[in-house]
Amino acid sequence: MDSTEFYDRTGEYVAVLIPQVWRELGPALGKTLAGLDATAGALVDVGAGTGVGTATLAAVFPGAEIVAVEPHPGLRTALLARIVDDEDLARRVTVLAADVAHAQLPERVAGLIAMNVLGHLSAGERREFWALLAEKLTPDGRAVVTIAPPTRPEPVPEAPVARARIGRLRYTGSASAEPAGPDAVTWRMSYAVSDGDRRVAELSALDHWTVFTPGQMADELAPLGLRTAPVDGPHGLHVITRR
Ligand SMILES: C[S@@+](CC[C@H](N)C(=O)[O-])C[C@H]1O[C@@H](n2cnc3c(N)ncnc32)[C@H](O)[C@@H]1O
Repeated sequence: MDSTEFYDRTGEYVAVLIPQVWRELGPALGKTLAGLDATAGALVDVGAGTGVGTATLAAVFPGAEIVAVEPHPGLRTALLARIVDDEDLARRVTVLAADVAHAQLPERVAGLIAMNVLGHLSAGERREFWALLAEKLTPDGRAVVTIAPPTRPEPVPEAPVARARIGRLRYTGSASAEPAGPDAVTWRMSYAVSDGDRRVAELSALDHWTVFTPGQMADELAPLGLRTAPVDGPHGLHVITRR
């Protein structure tokens, strides 16, 4: 499912607002990956966006080789800017300009994260992704993915998602969703930039998002010899390992 147009319009807001999401998500991800042997293979960040998760991986696993896969040129520019500005990241993070189906992933993957990404894949693309994971994951490797509600095509009332202040300007984002067929919703993301009481900019954009339940994911993974378990906490983290 192509999200290019959505991120063409919203990339700037994603860059500004997603770090707030990561303030709690980052430590939760770090805990979920604790004890992983990152010398057994590379660590992969699928749909790395602006690279908050990539930098989190790098901090949790000093010295590990990391591959960040990011198809969108705007978000990838932010990702590369983050990496090139840090000697340690520049030495060990490789950025692949492709979607996950077309990226030249490393042979052996010790750890993989796909955070806030899987809804961009159609059900068929998701199954191809599981097959790739089953092929590459090392015996004691771990993948961590997020599944956020809704997990079925249901309406979601509008609610704020994040806010940030940069200089004089305040950025806010809110989201709502409507069902879009048997296994998808359309998210409406609304962003605003304000200078005090004055609205400087506002934007709404629609994003097609495939939904699935944790049970569905378990059923898709089982024939590939992979199993999944939810991680405690409010972040929708699920860990995938070999049986
Ligand atoms: C909501 S953003 C999340 C970014 C990042 N994972 C984070 O949490 O900060 C979703 C990302 O998935 C990427 N994406 C969309 N389709 C993809 C695909 N088929 N393969 C890899 N990445 C994809 C988008 O370009 C975007 O960077």
